[in-house]
Amino acid sequence: MALPKLQIALDNGVLSEALASISQVGDEVDVIEAGTILCLAEGMEAVRCLRALYPEKTILADTKCADAGGTVAKNCADAGADWMTVICCATIPTMQAALKEVQDLQVELYGDWTFELAAKWKQAGLTQVVYHQSRDALLAGETWGEKDLAKIRRLVEMGFKVSVTGGLEVETLPLFAGIDVFTFIAGRGIRDAADPRQAAREFKAEIARIWG
Ligand code: 5RP
Repeated sequence: MALPKLQIALDNGVLSEALASISQVGDEVDVIEAGTILCLAEGMEAVRCLRALYPEKTILADTKCADAGGTVAKNCADAGADWMTVICCATIPTMQAALKEVQDLQVELYGDWTFELAAKWKQAGLTQVVYHQSRDALLAGETWGEKDLAKIRRLVEMGFKVSVTGGLEVETLPLFAGIDVFTFIAGRGIRDAADPRQAAREFKAEIARIWG
């Protein structure tokens, strides 16, 4: 089982704050995400700044794109993103059009997606999905549990690279032990820590302890 990667989600509402966040942890993480909130607030300039600062890192634009996949993906790639996200209710043609423009595409799993649909994404050439506990679900009292782990295991068995996200803390990681998680995506658990660099290091150390 490979060591899961660590991705930081920059869901800052203002570009200057995102840059302050990433300047503390950029060297510690494997993937840098221009979060949905940041992309909506600041557009592709956020991706351009991250690419300028981190020429060697994998950069993901979390657009959660629903339509015009080719155009949105070209804008992301032109700005310097390697990967972007589409929402799971986007059509297969939207996903395929996006996939042509970026190095890789992640399907964000929200709401009522099905494994039948996931099989169609696989057939269409998609290899990455993001299993998500939404902010709003977490705020409404949802927690990570066996129901999530079962779905994640099944997606891994289908051959997807499965990233996991939503309110993750270092203490949440042992729950996923034994599962071939591709990437852990953490936002507030790193950005809002008293010492974000130390928090990123603790995430990496815990990943190495469990999966190493
Ligand atoms: C929200 C997202 C977030 O980027 C992701 O959930 C990580 O953020 P946090 O760790 O703060 O929950 O995609 O739509």
